[in-house]
Amino acid sequence: MTTLIIGAGLVGAQVARILAERGERPLVMDARPQRAVLATLLDASTIDLFEGDVLRPLSISAALARAKVDAIVHTAANPLLTLGAQRNPHAAIELNIMGLANVMEAARIHGIGRMVASSSSVLNRYQSGGEDGGDLSREEAVPRPHTFYAATKQAVESIGLNYARSFGIAFAALRYCPVAGPWSGPGGGGPSGIFRAMLEAAVDGREAVIPGTAMEWVYSKDAAMATVQAIDAPDLGSGVFNITMGRIYRPQELAAALVEAIPGTRTRIEAQPEGSTWSGGDWKPADISRAAKHLGYVPQYPMARLLRDYAQWYRGVRRPAG
Ligand SMILES: NC(=O)c1ccc[n+]([C@@H]2O[C@H](COP(=O)([O-])OP(=O)(O)OC[C@H]3O[C@@H](n4cnc5c(N)ncnc54)[C@H](O)[C@@H]3O)[C@@H](O)[C@H]2O)c1
Repeated sequence: MTTLIIGAGLVGAQVARILAERGERPLVMDARPQRAVLATLLDASTIDLFEGDVLRPLSISAALARAKVDAIVHTAANPLLTLGAQRNPHAAIELNIMGLANVMEAARIHGIGRMVASSSSVLNRYQSGGEDGGDLSREEAVPRPHTFYAATKQAVESIGLNYARSFGIAFAALRYCPVAGPWSGPGGGGPSGIFRAMLEAAVDGREAVIPGTAMEWVYSKDAAMATVQAIDAPDLGSGVFNITMGRIYRPQELAAALVEAIPGTRTRIEAQPEGSTWSGGDWKPADISRAAKHLGYVPQYPMARLLRDYAQWYRGVRRPAG
C-alpha cells in the first residue's frame, strides 16, 4: 500500500510518521518542505519526500508516477489558515479550492481509489443563516460560512463529495478543530501558534499566556491517526467527520492542565483582541460519534497527555540556553 501525502506540515508530517511506522513508505510532496523540522518528528529515511506544487497538475502526476499509489491525503492549505485567508482571500481561494480540484482530477484520471482531504471545524462555528427551518424553498435555509477560509473548506467538502458520487472515488473530509502539536517552523493556524507560544514559554520557565476563549483542541498525532483511519475505513458513510479531542477546555482548565503537566508554570489568561477571527463566544463541542462509528476514532491524547508529549518533544529540540 502506498499513500501520497500532499502538504508536510503539522498534520501531514504526523500522517507520514504513522504510515512509515507501520511499514509503508509514503510519498510526501510539499511546495516548501521543512526538512530540518521533519527530521525532529520522523526518520527521514523512511519516507520519500520531494518538492511539488498542488497548484501545478503536472506536479501531482509526477508524484503519482513515483509508485503505485492507492490513496491520497491532501493537507496543503494557505498559510495561517483563517487569518491568512482574511488577509489574502484570492490566494487562499486558489490554493484551497483549485488545489483540491487538481487532486480530485488527478485521482480520477489516475484511478486512485481513495482521497482524504482536510476540512476544518470552522464549518461548525463560522456560519450564519439556516434560519428558514431547513426549508430549501427559502433563501436562508442553508447556512453560509462568513470567513473566506470557512468558505473554501465548505467548497472542499462539497466538491470532494461530488467527485465521490460522480466518479466512485472514496472521499473523506476531516474537520479538524484547532491543531496543537510539535512544530518549529511556519505552519498551522493562528490558534496552533498561540498554543505553541504557551507551551514553549512554560517549558522555558517564562510566563505562559493562556488564550482567553473556551476552545476545543486536537493533538496533531490524533488528527493524523484519524486521517490514517480514514485511509483504512471500509465504509466512509457520509464522508465528513469531526476530529477533535472531544471536549472543550475553558481558559482556567487549560491553565490548570499546563501547571499540572509542567509544575511551577506561571500563567496569565489573555483575551484575544476584539475582532480576532476566533475570539468571542463559547465553543460548542463537536460531536465526534460519526468518526468513532465509521473510522474507529477515539482520541488518544487528552490535554494532560498532549501537554506532556509536546513538552517532551520541545525539550529535545530547543536550543540549549546561553
Ligand atoms: N492547524 C490547524 O489548526 C488546522 C485546523 C483545522 C483544519 N486544518 C487543516 O488541516 C490541513 C493541515 O493543516 P496544518 O496545520 O498541517 O498546516 P501546515 O501549514 O502546517 O501545513 C501545510 C503544508 O502545505 C504546504 N503547502 C502549501 N501550499 C502548497 C502547495 N501549493 N503545494 C504543496 N504543498 C503546499 C505547506 O508548505 C505546508 O508544509 C490544512 O488543510 C488546514 O486547513 C488545520
